[in-house]
Amino acid sequence: MTALNKTHPCADLLPQLRALLAVTRDPVANMANTAAWLYHSLPQLNWAGFYLLKNDTLVLGPFQGKPACVLIPLGKGVCGTAAATRQTQRVPNVHAFAGHIACDSASNSEIVIPIVHQGKTWGVLDLDSPVLNRFDETDRQFLEQAAEIFAAQSDL
Ligand code: SME
Repeated sequence: MTALNKTHPCADLLPQLRALLAVTRDPVANMANTAAWLYHSLPQLNWAGFYLLKNDTLVLGPFQGKPACVLIPLGKGVCGTAAATRQTQRVPNVHAFAGHIACDSASNSEIVIPIVHQGKTWGVLDLDSPVLNRFDETDRQFLEQAAEIFAAQSDL
C-alpha cells in the first residue's frame, strides 16, 4: 500500500471506511457504502461509483450521482483506459481527453482508479467533479488507498 499522505484533508477518515466495510465481505454492499462514503466525504463531486469488468465491457455498479452510462467497452473513455492500462487516470479537463464519455454534462474533471485482483482488472472506481482540475496528487493517493481498503475487505 502507498504510504498514507497525511496532507490530504480526508486522510484521517480512512479508518471510517475500514469500519464501514468491516460488517461484510459482500462486494455489492461494500461498493454501495464506499460510493456513498466518498460522495458525502469529499467536496465538489457530482458522481462517485464503480464499474465492473465483465467480458471486456465495464458494467455500471453501485454509485452516487445522476444515472450514468451502463456499458463502457474496455479501452474506451477514461474508465475504459484506466481498466485497460491498469493505471490511475487523473484528468484535469475531461473536454481535452480524447474519447471521454460524457454521462453528465456537468462533469469537468475526473479520476478513475483501477481495481486489480489476482492479476486481472476487476473494475474501476470513478469520481467526477464539476470543477476543473478538482483532483490533485493527494486525492490520487487517498482514493487509491480507499480502493485498496475496499478490495482488501471484499470478496472480489
Ligand atoms: N466519463 C467516464 C464515463 C463514466 S461517467 O463519468 C460516470 C469515461 O469517460 O469513461
